[in-house]
Amino acid sequence: MGAGRVSPQGPRQGGRGGARAALAPMLEFQKMRIATRYVVRPMRLADIAQVIEVERASFPSMWPPTAFKRELQQNRLAHYVVVSELHPERASTPPPGQQKQLRGIDRFVEEVRHMLSGQTDEETERELRSLPPVDERAEVILGFIGVWLLPDEAHIVTIAVRDSHRRQGIGELLLISAIKLAQRNGQGLVTLECRVSNEAALGLYEKYGFQQVGLRPRYYSDNHEDAYVLTVSSVITEKYRALFSGLRQEHEQRCGRFDVDTG
Ligand SMILES: CC(C)(COP(=O)(O)OP(=O)(O)OC[C@H]1O[C@@H](n2cnc3c(N)ncnc32)[C@H](O)[C@@H]1OP(=O)(O)O)[C@@H](O)C(=O)NCCC(=O)NCCS
Repeated sequence: MGAGRVSPQGPRQGGRGGARAALAPMLEFQKMRIATRYVVRPMRLADIAQVIEVERASFPSMWPPTAFKRELQQNRLAHYVVVSELHPERASTPPPGQQKQLRGIDRFVEEVRHMLSGQTDEETERELRSLPPVDERAEVILGFIGVWLLPDEAHIVTIAVRDSHRRQGIGELLLISAIKLAQRNGQGLVTLECRVSNEAALGLYEKYGFQQVGLRPRYYSDNHEDAYVLTVSSVITEKYRALFSGLRQEHEQRCGRFDVDTG
């Protein structure tokens, strides 16, 4: 729920003090309307094309792409979260099959439409090809994370951030969302696999207290690279909550607050 992060605006110059004061609320309103907003929310079917776009750029050797449609519709254990950037001023040119921010019944109708459409991979590919340029989209997906809430652990199955938006705290925000999800579900153990050479991801996980508890030799089929198995053994202990709370505060101070839409 908190306030969205807004683009910095320079101070306005000139004008008579009184008139400017009278106009101030209106100008402020306009500023809020055109400001970029960042949102953390559950992934929707309409996000699939953009999510695959980010996945492809992040994992170039991965084929086929994750079956996101099946994950969202049929895998009850799977939870996907996206971070997106809203550009209300571009709302007149929404990407194909994409949203104005859908609410309530509109969103329900949109989801049912997709479910009934029996969309094939080919159609997803077509949608991907017809995505407008990133700088023309009303909503740009910046990153996503997938978590399977298994009976005895929360397993992070994927995480990626759009190349152009890396090192801005978005990966961290996604990981925070996944850990919060595990905590809400009372799952202490959070696990994942990570390429031994993936320094960026290893840095992120280490920051959030993940420890190497195993090695899966030749785990990845493209280059037979090994994977570390990383875990936090309990995200629901007081000790971990204290660490987590400190990291979240630090993140918020550095990156600002993000709107959270729980779907
Ligand atoms: C891993 C990934 C998700 C990180 O996303 P990001 O938004 O760039 O990360 P953040 O800006 O939130 O960084 C958070 C922490 O991660 C670590 N980190 C991120 N990028 C790093 C890099 N290039 N080198 C070293 N550490 C890095 C740092 O500890 C950083 O904390 P700091 O800012 O206090 O130093 C992103 O690099 C990515 O999408 N990579 C390709 C996909 C991938 O490899 N996924 C992981 C599969 S296991």
